[in-house]
Amino acid sequence: MPKHFLMCRPEHFTVEYAINPWMDPEAGADREVAIRQWEALKAAYEGLGHEVSLIDPVEGLPDMVFAANGALVVGGRVFGARFAFPERGPEGPAYLRWFSDRGFPVKAAEYVNEGEGDFLTLDEVVLAGTGFRTDPRAHQEAQEFLGRPVISLSLVDPRFYHLDTALFSLDGRNVAYYPDAFSAGSQEVLRRLFPDAVLASAADAEVLGLNAVSDGEHVVINAEAAELSLELKRRGYTVIPVDLSELRKAGGGPKCCTLEIRA
Ligand code: ARG
Repeated sequence: MPKHFLMCRPEHFTVEYAINPWMDPEAGADREVAIRQWEALKAAYEGLGHEVSLIDPVEGLPDMVFAANGALVVGGRVFGARFAFPERGPEGPAYLRWFSDRGFPVKAAEYVNEGEGDFLTLDEVVLAGTGFRTDPRAHQEAQEFLGRPVISLSLVDPRFYHLDTALFSLDGRNVAYYPDAFSAGSQEVLRRLFPDAVLASAADAEVLGLNAVSDGEHVVINAEAAELSLELKRRGYTVIPVDLSELRKAGGGPKCCTLEIRA
């Protein structure tokens, strides 16, 4: 089943502020390299037959490349993002406008939530992260707007500040995740919901290997996530490695660059 993704070319990408432990403004980042790596990610999706739409990047919003944070789209309904940090604040309205201009029913959120960064949609439920960015009240707000059951999960390691840095959906029914990113209670919830999950190691998590995008058959994943890639192959998935090392300097990987438009 081809998917439809929204992406944003990193034309204004920089690391000029630090809102997560991956970001070091002193170390900087090479925009040309970031753009090349991002182009390869886009080409990988298109090579798999997925459709990619683009939103215009806005000057002064260096993190806008991380489209996953722009909104949550389920059943054609668009739940807008409300960012935790003022540096990213204007991205919420920019993404919401993209959708409203195209006729989507949109809702501007009341509580802080960072879109698909903290909301991951499976076939039956939406998994929702909290602890660093998204306000747990936004979980309830999303459930009410989308009419989908939302399950709250608590993140406890600042390196894995968004749910999509610690977990991804394999096929809408099963997931891969890094257990230590979650509170004890949330680990128990995950074990109960997904007894057959792929468990990632610290080494895989530390290269943002969980920030992957699966279409149920192919998994687009950071090339450095070696053990995880091996296990995915063992389970019958085709692994599509990508190099997003420059974007990782801002704390992002393939999934962060990708907002799924679910009709
Ligand atoms: N620098 C960005 C931030 O801290 C990275 C966002 C990554 N996006 C994601 N979906 N995890 O907000």
